[in-house]
Order: sequence, then C-alpha cells, then structure tokens
Amino acid sequence: MKLIDARKDYYRKLAHEQGFRSRSAYKLKELNQSYRIIGPGFYVLDLGCAPGGWTQMAVRLAGNKGKVMGIDLSYVEEIPHAHLIREDIEDVTITDEIMAYFERKVNAVVCDLSPQVTGNWSVDHAKQISLNYSCAKIIDIVLAHKGNALFKIFDGEYSMEFRDYVKKKFSRINLTKPKASRKQSSELYCVCLGYTG
Ligand SMILES: C[S@@+](CC[C@H](N)C(=O)[O-])C[C@H]1O[C@@H](n2cnc3c(N)ncnc32)[C@H](O)[C@@H]1O
Repeated sequence: MKLIDARKDYYRKLAHEQGFRSRSAYKLKELNQSYRIIGPGFYVLDLGCAPGGWTQMAVRLAGNKGKVMGIDLSYVEEIPHAHLIREDIEDVTITDEIMAYFERKVNAVVCDLSPQVTGNWSVDHAKQISLNYSCAKIIDIVLAHKGNALFKIFDGEYSMEFRDYVKKKFSRINLTKPKASRKQSSELYCVCLGYTG
C-alpha cells in the first residue's frame, strides 16, 4: 500500500472508531490545534457541512457554552447540539436565517464547500472559488469583529486573487495543507484570524 493510501485509510478508520462522519473532521481538528480557529464557547457557522464531520468537530471544540449551525444543499442527519438547515448558501436570504438562529454575530465561520465536480479542473476550481466569495459575503454580515474563518480552496489560477481579497479583511492569514488532507489532492486551506472588516 502506498503511503498516501495508508494515511487516507488511517483517518477513515479513526473517523469510524471515534464516530465522526468524515475524515475531514481531522483536518479541522489539526488546523484548530495550530491556529485556534474555534475555542470554547464560540458561536460557529459551518458552510457546506454535509455529511457533518466538521459540524461534529465544531460542536466538540465549542463545548457546551458554544452554539453551532451547519448549512448544506444536502440533507444532513441530526447532530446533537447543532442546528442544521438544508439551504443554498448563495440564497440572498441566508444571512437572515443565520442571524435568527444565533441572535448575535458569530466567532468563527468554517467553509468546506465543494461544487458538483465536472472533472474539468478549471471549471471546478472557478466554481469553488465563486462559492468562497459567496461565503466571504456572508462573513461580512455575520462574523464578529476579531472573529476567525477557514476556507477550503481548490487550488488554481484564482487562488491568490481570493487570498488577497480575504487578506484585507483579517489581521492574519495563512495558506496551509493539513496532514489529514491527501498529498496529491489540490486542496488548500486558508486560515483567517482576527476579522477587521
Ligand atoms: C466536502 S463536502 C463538506 C464536508 C464536511 N465539511 C464534512 O466534514 O462532513 C462539501 C459540501 O458543500 C456543499 N455545497 C456545495 N455548494 C453548496 C451551496 N451552494 N450551498 C450549500 N452547500 C453547498 C455540498 O453539498 C457538499 O456537501
């Protein structure tokens, strides 16, 4: 077995044993250990949350004083202590629903959106970046001053443009790739700390 397959297998097994719905949960865990995107008591919004691995991890990281909401186009089976809605994040009324649930601005927004892939990387990359711009618009309305954000990025020609766009809104940003992310995959994570608007 190749090392990358072994690693993929390792996180899949761990997710199964620990009751997480996706291996992705460990990407969030690892990034959080390095950057503390989510802390105890945080109000957390998870955009593109199905099947729910990040939401499960966010519930754990935010603890019993925190509040977590997940949104996805797909149905997500109930997760204790999380509020889940089936909606399109590109819908203009989405921020009303978010604010109605939290009743105040949130401390962290995590975005793991993937479009339905076509197999044509340029097309998939452009659509994924466009989803991230939609998330950035939501963030401008719902994220509290000094709040944090995390974006998955399908790496390609518009990645740096997107990074520069969010860079103006946060005091610190970093592009990174967690160990739990497959080496050969072209996904990156943009960690954004300290929202300034
Ligand atoms: C990689 S999955 C997320 C995995 C998740 N973080 C986890 O740990 O289980 C990406 C999700 O983005 C969702 N998505 C894509 N476009 C969306 C949109 N416009 N609105 C809401 N969700 C969307 C897809 O339905 C898909 O479930």
